[in-house]
Amino acid sequence: MSTATIRNVLRGDGDRFVYVVSALAALNGLLFGFDTGIISGAFLFIQDSFVMSPLVEGIIVSGAMAGAAAGAAVGGQLADRLGRRRLILIAAIVFFVGSFTMAVAPTVPVLVAGRLIDGVAIGFASIVGPLYISEIAPPHIRGGLTSLNQLMVTTGILLSYFVNYAFADAGAWRWMLGAGMVPAVVLAIGILKMPESPRWLFEHGRKDEARAVLKRTRSSGVDQELDEIEETVETQSETGVRDLLAPWLRPALVVGLGLAVFQQITGINAVIYYAPTILESTGLGSVASILATVGIGTINVVMTVVAIMLVDRVGRRRLLLVGVGGMVATLAILGTVFYLPGLSGGLGIIATISLMLFVSFFAIGLGPVFWLLISEIYPLSVRGSAMGVVTVANWGANLLVSLTFPVLTDGVGTSATFWLFGLCSLVGLLFVYRYVPETKGRTLEAIEDDLRQNISLAD
Ligand code: BGC
Repeated sequence: MSTATIRNVLRGDGDRFVYVVSALAALNGLLFGFDTGIISGAFLFIQDSFVMSPLVEGIIVSGAMAGAAAGAAVGGQLADRLGRRRLILIAAIVFFVGSFTMAVAPTVPVLVAGRLIDGVAIGFASIVGPLYISEIAPPHIRGGLTSLNQLMVTTGILLSYFVNYAFADAGAWRWMLGAGMVPAVVLAIGILKMPESPRWLFEHGRKDEARAVLKRTRSSGVDQELDEIEETVETQSETGVRDLLAPWLRPALVVGLGLAVFQQITGINAVIYYAPTILESTGLGSVASILATVGIGTINVVMTVVAIMLVDRVGRRRLLLVGVGGMVATLAILGTVFYLPGLSGGLGIIATISLMLFVSFFAIGLGPVFWLLISEIYPLSVRGSAMGVVTVANWGANLLVSLTFPVLTDGVGTSATFWLFGLCSLVGLLFVYRYVPETKGRTLEAIEDDLRQNISLAD
């Protein structure tokens, strides 16, 4: 998004309607971030309320990721069948039910059930938020608008850190977890005012409605865009997951799955979910660690804003290359610092700064660009399903890292764990360089056309 666009957003002119709609849809991202971030603080107090085995503790923390993988698994197809808008409404309701269940849970099984339900909503939201925005946005600002969703994910995480902090004194974990009901209600009400995706409408034979939505969300070029959508819809055969295996789609599937896995195995959520623990081990006191965690959350938000301003100007590939390159460098520093003896003092400060830089590099690259690209590189007929498959892979990898991080640091040490993440980032960098296409400023239909003609995606 250019600075002019940002100015338009702030002033409220230009394609104002599309900004409002995208901002509302990005509440999906806020819930996704909030509900994944909140458990880090709430968990400390849940442990005081119930007697639990370590296995049950693990299930409570990672239950949401497992639920999210399940939600993402069916969310893509539901988005194709029911429509984007209806799925957003369902996600908001499920978010509400999950948060409510956790807040009032009298027993551990009910709490776990709430966490799983909440996870399913997170899974729905992680697909349908970026999908809906990318389809309603005009091409020249699509990158920035779709990345609004990631901005809200990071804002949600930061908000959850503050809410944790606010309720920490009282140990009020039920309020922490129940707080997710508020944005769920706002999203449910907001979606009633939002139009359906014009591309989805067109594909379901509702051409007049599609035209009407485009007219409301474009200042010009409506007929041309409708023609392009029509052409794409006409060249499609049956929809379904089987179509994903068509040879001409394989490059896009490789790109999506690769980015999904690299986004997680490079270690971001080891930092997002375990930041206070890592920081304490550098010699910081617990209050300072919590403050530094808020600092990390803030940097995550700020650098995502920077990415949004750059993504439609410098392009997706360049942001990814710089971002992942920076992650390799900062992880190498972290691996070294944690290897050296005497972590407190100067080295502790270097470690804290490196952690912050690591998050910054994630936030200008893999964070937003992954979600953006997977909403751009799949043809309309399989877009929902393809995003579903890729998002499941993302949650699966997330589950793997968040479950194994404590085990890894305990077994091979923090230093080796960071080296391992660094190695994964290096492979990720080569992957981006070799396979990831530039999609900046092109219509979704033009990207699809290239795929059909089997033009190399890395050109
Ligand atoms: C990732 C999440 C992560 C968040 C951090 C998202 O793009 O998918 O797993 O927690 O970024 O900002």
